[in-house]
Amino acid sequence: MLSESLIAKLRGAESVCVLTGAGISAESGVPTFRGEDGLWKKFKPEELANFDAFISNPDLVWEWYAYRRRIIQEVKPNPGHHALVELEKRIPDFTLVTQNVDNLHRRAGSNHILELHGNIERSYCIDCRTFDSDIDVKELKGVPRCKKCGGLIRPDVVWFGEILPLAVLSEAVSAASRCDIFFSVGTSAIVYPAASLPYTALEHGAYVVQINREHTDLSLSAHETMLGKAGDILPQLVEALDKHPRGGV
Ligand code: OAD
Ligand code: ZN
Repeated sequence: MLSESLIAKLRGAESVCVLTGAGISAESGVPTFRGEDGLWKKFKPEELANFDAFISNPDLVWEWYAYRRRIIQEVKPNPGHHALVELEKRIPDFTLVTQNVDNLHRRAGSNHILELHGNIERSYCIDCRTFDSDIDVKELKGVPRCKKCGGLIRPDVVWFGEILPLAVLSEAVSAASRCDIFFSVGTSAIVYPAASLPYTALEHGAYVVQINREHTDLSLSAHETMLGKAGDILPQLVEALDKHPRGGV
């Protein structure tokens, strides 16, 4: 059930910014990073998702990404992703900021997407920076090599210790600063700078709503935390807007 204040805010909203994390893809069958199903072969994401780990054991790190890519190829966007596509159609200024690298928002049909952490379906050579999109993760054993120079191929994702794509981040900060409502969906809200976006929104006077299966640090500051699955709650936002159209009486 949506609160009366959220329904009222939604009806009046010109600008909405949504930040998503691994939780929105969980219902599609993509494992989250943290929490019960978050561990892969007992490694924490911080141990694998960094450049040093890749250099010292490229096959292991590549295998983790290949494992995730194989899952992603087999799954489909879920009602949470689809609801965000519908929300985008109904809000004049809508920005979807995602920490996910799984491409599911794009496959669902969202348009204005800011990928803060890159995209796992792209890869590039660490030596000559040539992109290689034809890697077949079903066939491959171990890290692939660049066809041009023989360098190691890495996924085009942001690793711990690396800088986020600056233009993308600054667009996200701008969207968080100007929105009327900010939704933080399915993210543990602990990996910065993404985790700072809801606070940017709060500072600029937005109504901040968290949608998560459990409480996070953000629960202390958000105006509302809706506990439950993204795939159940997000479609309710669209229903509410259709029942009480924007600007209507
Ligand atoms: P996490 O795995 O840290 O958190 C997932 C969150 O989703 C948890 O808070 C869960 O409670 C919640 N959740 C699980 N299922 C859900 C559902 N069906 N509906 C709503 N919420 C649900 O994932 P992120 O916060 O995305 O970074 O992780 C942030 C970053 O850490 C990732 O982008 C990745 C990782 O290391 C990089 O790869 C750079
Ligand atoms: Zn190369």
